[in-house]
Amino acid sequence: MTTTASHTAAIAATGITKAFGTLDVLRGVDLNVEPGSILALLGSNGAGKTTLVKILATLIHADAGTALVHGFDVADEPARVRESVSLTGQFAAVDEVLTGRENLVLVARLRHVREPAAVAAELLARFSLADAADRRAGTYSGGMRRRLDIAMSLIGDPPVIFLDEPTTGLDPEARLEVWDAVRQLAAGGTTVLLTTQYLDEAEQLADRIAILHEGRIRVDGTLAELKRLLPPAEVQYVEKQPSLEDVFLSLVGARGPESGERGAEADDSERKPRS
Ligand SMILES: Nc1ncnc2c1ncn2[C@@H]1O[C@H](COP(=O)(O)OP(=O)(O)O)[C@@H](O)[C@H]1O
Ligand SMILES: [Mg+2]
Repeated sequence: MTTTASHTAAIAATGITKAFGTLDVLRGVDLNVEPGSILALLGSNGAGKTTLVKILATLIHADAGTALVHGFDVADEPARVRESVSLTGQFAAVDEVLTGRENLVLVARLRHVREPAAVAAELLARFSLADAADRRAGTYSGGMRRRLDIAMSLIGDPPVIFLDEPTTGLDPEARLEVWDAVRQLAAGGTTVLLTTQYLDEAEQLADRIAILHEGRIRVDGTLAELKRLLPPAEVQYVEKQPSLEDVFLSLVGARGPESGERGAEADDSERKPRS
Protein backbone atom coordinates (compact mmCIF):
# COMPACT_ATOMS: atom_id res chain seq x y z
CA MET A 1 0.00 0.00 0.00
CA THR A 2 1.10 3.50 -0.68
CA THR A 3 0.21 6.54 1.33
CA THR A 4 -1.16 8.27 -1.69
CA ALA A 5 -4.90 7.72 -1.65
CA SER A 6 -5.64 11.39 -1.05
CA HIS A 7 -3.36 12.59 -3.85
CA THR A 8 -4.47 12.88 -7.41
CA ALA A 9 -1.47 14.88 -8.60
CA ALA A 10 1.04 13.14 -10.88
CA ILE A 11 3.80 14.94 -8.99
CA ALA A 12 3.34 16.22 -5.46
CA ALA A 13 6.38 17.66 -3.71
CA THR A 14 6.29 19.25 -0.27
CA GLY A 15 9.07 21.03 1.56
CA ILE A 16 11.91 19.60 -0.50
CA THR A 17 15.32 20.82 0.64
CA LYS A 18 18.76 20.04 -0.73
CA ALA A 19 22.16 21.46 0.06
CA PHE A 20 25.52 20.72 -1.53
CA GLY A 21 27.97 21.42 1.26
CA THR A 22 27.18 24.93 2.44
CA LEU A 23 25.20 25.76 -0.69
CA ASP A 24 21.44 25.62 0.02
CA VAL A 25 20.10 24.92 -3.43
CA LEU A 26 16.52 23.95 -2.57
CA ARG A 27 15.03 25.55 0.54
CA GLY A 28 11.57 24.09 0.73
CA VAL A 29 10.08 23.39 -2.66
CA ASP A 30 6.34 22.76 -2.93
CA LEU A 31 5.06 21.68 -6.31
CA ASN A 32 2.03 19.91 -7.72
CA VAL A 33 1.57 18.76 -11.29
CA GLU A 34 -1.76 17.48 -12.55
CA PRO A 35 -1.85 14.26 -14.59
CA GLY A 36 -1.63 14.82 -18.34
CA SER A 37 -0.50 18.43 -18.01
CA ILE A 38 2.71 20.22 -18.94
CA LEU A 39 4.44 22.12 -16.17
CA ALA A 40 7.35 24.37 -17.07
CA LEU A 41 9.83 24.82 -14.26
CA LEU A 42 11.45 28.11 -15.03
CA GLY A 43 14.62 29.37 -13.42
CA SER A 44 17.93 31.02 -14.11
CA ASN A 45 21.08 29.02 -14.62
CA GLY A 46 21.99 27.43 -11.29
CA ALA A 47 18.55 27.93 -9.74
CA GLY A 48 18.30 24.24 -8.88
CA LYS A 49 16.03 22.94 -11.65
CA THR A 50 18.15 19.90 -12.45
CA THR A 51 18.62 19.19 -8.76
CA LEU A 52 14.85 19.10 -8.25
CA VAL A 53 14.30 16.89 -11.31
CA LYS A 54 17.00 14.49 -10.12
CA ILE A 55 15.29 14.22 -6.73
CA LEU A 56 11.92 13.55 -8.38
CA ALA A 57 13.51 10.94 -10.64
CA THR A 58 15.21 9.29 -7.60
CA LEU A 59 18.73 9.93 -8.89
CA ILE A 60 19.63 11.85 -5.73
CA HIS A 61 18.05 12.12 -2.28
CA ALA A 62 16.47 15.21 -0.84
CA ASP A 63 17.70 16.32 2.58
CA ALA A 64 14.13 16.84 3.78
CA GLY A 65 10.59 16.97 2.50
CA THR A 66 8.45 14.46 0.66
CA ALA A 67 7.72 13.87 -2.98
CA LEU A 68 5.21 11.54 -4.58
CA VAL A 69 5.53 10.75 -8.26
CA HIS A 70 2.67 8.82 -9.85
CA GLY A 71 1.56 8.10 -6.30
CA PHE A 72 4.86 6.62 -5.14
CA ASP A 73 7.16 8.13 -2.55
CA VAL A 74 10.59 8.86 -4.02
CA ALA A 75 12.29 7.99 -0.74
CA ASP A 76 10.31 4.86 0.20
CA GLU A 77 9.47 3.40 -3.20
CA PRO A 78 12.21 4.52 -5.58
CA ALA A 79 11.91 1.42 -7.78
CA ARG A 80 8.20 2.05 -8.35
CA VAL A 81 8.94 5.69 -9.14
CA ARG A 82 11.62 4.67 -11.63
CA GLU A 83 9.13 2.38 -13.39
CA SER A 84 6.78 5.35 -13.72
CA VAL A 85 9.10 8.03 -15.06
CA SER A 86 11.62 8.74 -17.72
CA LEU A 87 14.22 11.47 -17.68
CA THR A 88 15.65 13.09 -20.76
CA GLY A 89 18.57 15.34 -20.08
CA GLN A 90 20.06 18.20 -21.96
CA PHE A 91 22.60 15.93 -23.58
CA ALA A 92 20.87 13.40 -25.76
CA ALA A 93 21.48 9.78 -24.79
CA VAL A 94 21.40 8.68 -28.41
CA ASP A 95 24.01 6.23 -29.70
CA GLU A 96 25.38 7.93 -32.81
CA VAL A 97 26.73 4.76 -34.38
CA LEU A 98 23.30 3.14 -34.47
CA THR A 99 20.45 4.16 -36.72
CA GLY A 100 17.38 5.80 -35.25
CA ARG A 101 15.50 2.53 -35.54
CA GLU A 102 18.30 0.55 -33.91
CA ASN A 103 18.45 3.00 -31.00
CA LEU A 104 14.74 2.52 -30.36
CA VAL A 105 14.81 -1.26 -30.70
CA LEU A 106 17.76 -1.46 -28.34
CA VAL A 107 15.97 0.50 -25.63
CA ALA A 108 12.76 -1.49 -26.18
CA ARG A 109 14.69 -4.73 -25.67
CA LEU A 110 16.39 -3.38 -22.55
CA ARG A 111 13.00 -2.47 -21.12
CA HIS A 112 11.54 -5.87 -22.05
CA VAL A 113 8.85 -4.31 -24.19
CA ARG A 114 6.92 -6.75 -26.37
CA GLU A 115 7.39 -6.40 -30.14
CA PRO A 116 10.34 -3.98 -30.08
CA ALA A 117 10.33 -3.56 -33.87
CA ALA A 118 6.68 -2.53 -33.94
CA VAL A 119 7.16 -0.13 -31.02
CA ALA A 120 10.16 1.42 -32.80
CA ALA A 121 8.22 1.83 -36.05
CA GLU A 122 5.31 3.49 -34.27
CA LEU A 123 7.58 5.98 -32.48
CA LEU A 124 9.55 6.77 -35.64
CA ALA A 125 6.31 7.65 -37.39
CA ARG A 126 4.98 9.63 -34.43
CA PHE A 127 8.08 11.79 -34.23
CA SER A 128 8.44 12.26 -38.00
CA LEU A 129 11.62 10.21 -38.15
CA ALA A 130 10.40 7.46 -40.47
CA ASP A 131 12.34 8.76 -43.47
CA ALA A 132 15.55 8.94 -41.45
CA ALA A 133 14.92 5.71 -39.54
CA ASP A 134 17.70 3.72 -41.17
CA ARG A 135 20.35 6.42 -41.16
CA ARG A 136 22.94 6.56 -38.42
CA ALA A 137 21.83 8.92 -35.67
CA GLY A 138 25.22 10.64 -35.97
CA THR A 139 23.99 12.18 -39.21
CA TYR A 140 20.84 13.63 -37.61
CA SER A 141 20.29 17.34 -37.01
CA GLY A 142 20.08 18.58 -33.42
CA GLY A 143 16.29 18.64 -33.53
CA MET A 144 16.06 15.11 -34.94
CA ARG A 145 18.43 13.80 -32.32
CA ARG A 146 16.49 15.40 -29.51
CA ARG A 147 13.23 14.02 -30.94
CA LEU A 148 14.78 10.57 -31.10
CA ASP A 149 15.90 10.99 -27.50
CA ILE A 150 12.36 11.90 -26.43
CA ALA A 151 10.98 8.95 -28.42
CA MET A 152 13.43 6.62 -26.67
CA SER A 153 12.34 7.91 -23.30
CA LEU A 154 8.72 7.05 -24.12
CA ILE A 155 9.32 3.34 -24.62
CA GLY A 156 7.32 1.46 -22.05
CA ASP A 157 4.81 4.31 -21.80
CA PRO A 158 5.96 6.00 -18.60
CA PRO A 159 3.11 8.13 -17.24
CA VAL A 160 5.48 10.90 -16.14
CA ILE A 161 8.32 12.33 -18.18
CA PHE A 162 10.97 14.82 -17.11
CA LEU A 163 12.56 16.89 -19.85
CA ASP A 164 15.53 18.81 -18.49
CA GLU A 165 16.14 21.78 -20.78
CA PRO A 166 14.98 19.88 -23.87
CA THR A 167 15.76 22.69 -26.30
CA THR A 168 18.90 24.25 -24.88
CA GLY A 169 21.46 24.53 -27.66
CA LEU A 170 18.98 23.91 -30.47
CA ASP A 171 18.38 26.29 -33.34
CA PRO A 172 14.93 27.92 -33.63
CA GLU A 173 13.60 25.43 -36.15
CA ALA A 174 14.70 22.45 -34.08
CA ARG A 175 13.12 24.01 -31.01
CA LEU A 176 9.78 24.15 -32.80
CA GLU A 177 10.13 20.48 -33.71
CA VAL A 178 10.78 19.55 -30.10
CA TRP A 179 7.86 21.70 -28.95
CA ASP A 180 5.60 19.74 -31.27
CA ALA A 181 6.91 16.50 -29.82
CA VAL A 182 6.25 17.72 -26.27
CA ARG A 183 2.71 18.78 -27.15
CA GLN A 184 2.09 15.33 -28.58
CA LEU A 185 3.20 13.76 -25.34
CA ALA A 186 0.73 15.70 -23.25
CA ALA A 187 -2.02 15.14 -25.81
CA GLY A 188 -1.45 11.42 -25.31
CA GLY A 189 -1.98 11.77 -21.56
CA THR A 190 1.65 11.83 -20.40
CA THR A 191 2.45 14.22 -17.58
CA VAL A 192 5.39 16.42 -18.58
CA LEU A 193 7.64 18.39 -16.26
CA LEU A 194 10.07 20.35 -18.36
CA THR A 195 12.73 22.71 -17.15
CA THR A 196 13.73 25.69 -19.18
CA GLN A 197 15.54 28.99 -19.05
CA TYR A 198 13.51 30.21 -22.00
CA LEU A 199 10.50 32.32 -21.14
CA ASP A 200 8.92 31.86 -24.56
CA GLU A 201 9.20 28.10 -24.23
CA ALA A 202 7.24 28.23 -21.00
CA GLU A 203 4.69 30.55 -22.58
CA GLN A 204 4.24 28.34 -25.61
CA LEU A 205 4.15 24.91 -24.06
CA ALA A 206 3.06 24.94 -20.47
CA ASP A 207 -0.34 24.56 -18.90
CA ARG A 208 1.23 25.90 -15.73
CA ILE A 209 4.48 27.68 -15.04
CA ALA A 210 6.44 27.49 -11.80
CA ILE A 211 9.31 29.89 -11.18
CA LEU A 212 12.15 28.53 -9.03
CA HIS A 213 14.23 31.24 -7.44
CA GLU A 214 16.49 31.26 -4.38
CA GLY A 215 15.52 27.71 -3.53
CA ARG A 216 11.76 28.07 -3.58
CA ILE A 217 8.87 28.05 -6.01
CA ARG A 218 8.09 31.75 -5.99
CA VAL A 219 4.99 31.60 -8.15
CA ASP A 220 3.05 28.80 -9.77
CA GLY A 221 0.10 29.26 -12.07
CA THR A 222 -1.17 29.58 -15.59
CA LEU A 223 0.36 32.22 -17.81
CA ALA A 224 -2.76 34.35 -17.34
CA GLU A 225 -2.53 34.00 -13.55
CA LEU A 226 1.14 34.95 -13.56
CA LYS A 227 0.49 38.01 -15.67
CA ARG A 228 -2.17 39.15 -13.22
CA LEU A 229 0.50 39.29 -10.51
CA LEU A 230 1.78 42.54 -11.94
CA PRO A 231 -0.37 45.58 -12.60
CA PRO A 232 -0.61 46.53 -16.23
CA ALA A 233 1.84 49.32 -16.99
CA GLU A 234 0.17 52.38 -18.44
CA VAL A 235 2.00 54.10 -21.23
CA GLN A 236 0.10 57.20 -22.27
CA TYR A 237 -3.22 55.91 -23.63
CA VAL A 238 -2.06 52.38 -24.32
CA GLU A 239 -2.41 49.73 -21.63
CA LYS A 240 0.47 47.27 -21.81
CA GLN A 241 -0.13 43.91 -20.20
CA PRO A 242 2.87 42.57 -18.26
CA SER A 243 4.65 39.77 -20.07
CA LEU A 244 5.91 36.59 -18.47
CA GLU A 245 9.34 38.20 -18.78
CA ASP A 246 8.18 41.11 -16.61
CA VAL A 247 6.88 38.68 -13.97
CA PHE A 248 10.06 36.61 -14.09
CA LEU A 249 12.43 39.56 -13.87
CA SER A 250 10.46 41.22 -11.08
CA LEU A 251 10.80 37.99 -9.08
CA VAL A 252 14.45 37.26 -9.72
CA GLY A 253 15.26 40.91 -9.32
CA ALA A 254 17.32 41.34 -12.46
CA ARG A 255 15.13 44.15 -13.67
CA GLY A 256 11.79 45.23 -12.32
CA PRO A 257 9.01 46.49 -14.57
CA GLU A 258 9.38 49.90 -13.00
CA SER A 259 12.88 50.39 -14.43
CA GLY A 260 11.38 51.09 -17.80
CA GLU A 261 14.29 53.14 -19.09
CA ARG A 262 16.71 50.23 -19.28
CA GLY A 263 14.03 47.96 -20.65
CA ALA A 264 13.20 50.42 -23.38
CA GLU A 265 16.73 50.69 -24.65
CA ALA A 266 17.59 47.01 -24.32
CA ASP A 267 17.55 45.09 -27.55
CA ASP A 268 15.08 42.19 -27.51
CA SER A 269 17.72 39.64 -28.40
CA GLU A 270 19.65 40.54 -25.27
CA ARG A 271 16.74 40.21 -22.90
CA LYS A 272 17.77 36.93 -21.36
CA PRO A 273 17.37 35.98 -17.71
CA ARG A 274 20.55 36.64 -15.82
CA SER A 275 22.09 34.01 -13.63
N1 LIG B 1 26.62 17.46 -7.17
C1 LIG B 1 26.77 18.76 -6.89
N2 LIG B 1 27.72 19.16 -6.02
C2 LIG B 1 27.86 20.45 -5.71
N3 LIG B 1 27.11 21.45 -6.20
C3 LIG B 1 26.15 21.12 -7.07
C4 LIG B 1 25.93 19.75 -7.47
N4 LIG B 1 24.89 19.74 -8.33
C5 LIG B 1 24.50 21.02 -8.49
N5 LIG B 1 25.26 21.84 -7.73
C6 LIG B 1 25.07 23.30 -7.62
O1 LIG B 1 23.72 23.53 -7.26
C7 LIG B 1 23.22 24.67 -7.93
C8 LIG B 1 22.01 24.30 -8.72
O2 LIG B 1 22.39 23.48 -9.79
P1 LIG B 1 21.36 22.90 -10.85
O3 LIG B 1 20.29 22.15 -10.13
O4 LIG B 1 22.13 22.16 -11.86
O5 LIG B 1 20.74 24.24 -11.45
P2 LIG B 1 19.95 24.48 -12.82
O6 LIG B 1 19.60 23.14 -13.37
O7 LIG B 1 18.75 25.29 -12.43
O8 LIG B 1 20.85 25.26 -13.71
C9 LIG B 1 24.37 25.23 -8.77
O9 LIG B 1 25.00 26.24 -8.03
C10 LIG B 1 25.27 24.03 -8.92
O10 LIG B 1 26.59 24.43 -9.10
MG1 LIG C 1 20.01 22.22 -15.17
